[in-house]
Amino acid sequence: MKIIGTGSALPSLVVTNDMLSEFLDTNHEWIYTRTGISQRRIISDESLVELSVSACKRALEDANLDAGDIDFLICSNVVNHYVTPGLSCVIQGDIEAKCPCIDLNSACSGFIYALSVANAFLNTGNVKNILIVCADELSKIVDWNARDTSILFGDGAAAMIVTRGNNLKSMHLSTTSAVEPLHYQRELESTPYSKKEAFTPLVMNGKDVYKMAVTASIQDINAVMHEANVSQKEVSFYLLHQANVRIMETIREYLGEKEEKFPKNIHKYGNTSSASIPLLIDEMNKNGQLKDGDLLVMSAFGAGFSSGACVMEW
Ligand code: UT7
Repeated sequence: MKIIGTGSALPSLVVTNDMLSEFLDTNHEWIYTRTGISQRRIISDESLVELSVSACKRALEDANLDAGDIDFLICSNVVNHYVTPGLSCVIQGDIEAKCPCIDLNSACSGFIYALSVANAFLNTGNVKNILIVCADELSKIVDWNARDTSILFGDGAAAMIVTRGNNLKSMHLSTTSAVEPLHYQRELESTPYSKKEAFTPLVMNGKDVYKMAVTASIQDINAVMHEANVSQKEVSFYLLHQANVRIMETIREYLGEKEEKFPKNIHKYGNTSSASIPLLIDEMNKNGQLKDGDLLVMSAFGAGFSSGACVMEW
């Protein structure tokens, strides 16, 4: 597997920490020092479908491909307006692709899981180009009165096109069922045979999620580097899920690595769920920060509790 194009799209509305402190008992200092977030983009006038379509078109342009060249489309998503059809089907129609599509929900780890699924499909030899789009609007499920969760998330979409190649050096996925620390339940209708199932707002035990994230990410990074037989000095960048700058710093300190090997954009976008790593890669790609042969260690973690990492050559 090899990455041949990237694209992303963000909502136009910038919501700063100061804007949040107008209706929440919080302040910039607390949010910035505890999370590293200064602002986030939140959907207002645009839709998640529009952002996803823009991200996909930019990735196609970057790969110099048409939608008709795409053989398979994978959408990583937790929240969007449609329960059915899958967001991938809506996007497929809007970009005028004709390929089969699937949606995948592995929460904030979704990008790594999508890469793993894409790799499996590419290895069958039946498909050549796969479009992965990670799109989420967690702003639509957070409780905007809850200062411990609403400050964390941002909306956005990021896409990537992968094709056949030998750039994926190793991949490790891990899921340990732990629903309580991070979950959200939508309201379901009553039926003649069952009562209405109540809605549960986004529930998060920040400290538990924090600890699970650090532990899982370190284990996954060690596993993929061992499997790929890669030493730390060979790694160009560690691209971590942008959930909290302190989580990333703890992992960096554990590895004893330099700050410049851990690029971040969480200060601008907050936690954009599974879009966060491909969004970072798209920025680095467009800024010319990635050179052929660079070794990238990617690591993501999220609700489930799920996590995954891989070593990939650029
Ligand atoms: O993709 C995975 C998604 N989730 C995560 O990555 C979350 C991981 N966890 C975290 O990032 C951190 O646990 C948080 C940023 C959510 C919280 O940081 P913390 O250092 O664990 O803070 P805390 O929950 O222990 O709260 C400390 C204090 C509490 O007040 P008291 O009880 O000490 O009086 C909170 O009520 O800070 C208070 N607090 C706030 N104060 C100002 C919580 N949220 C805020 C806020 N502004 N926004």
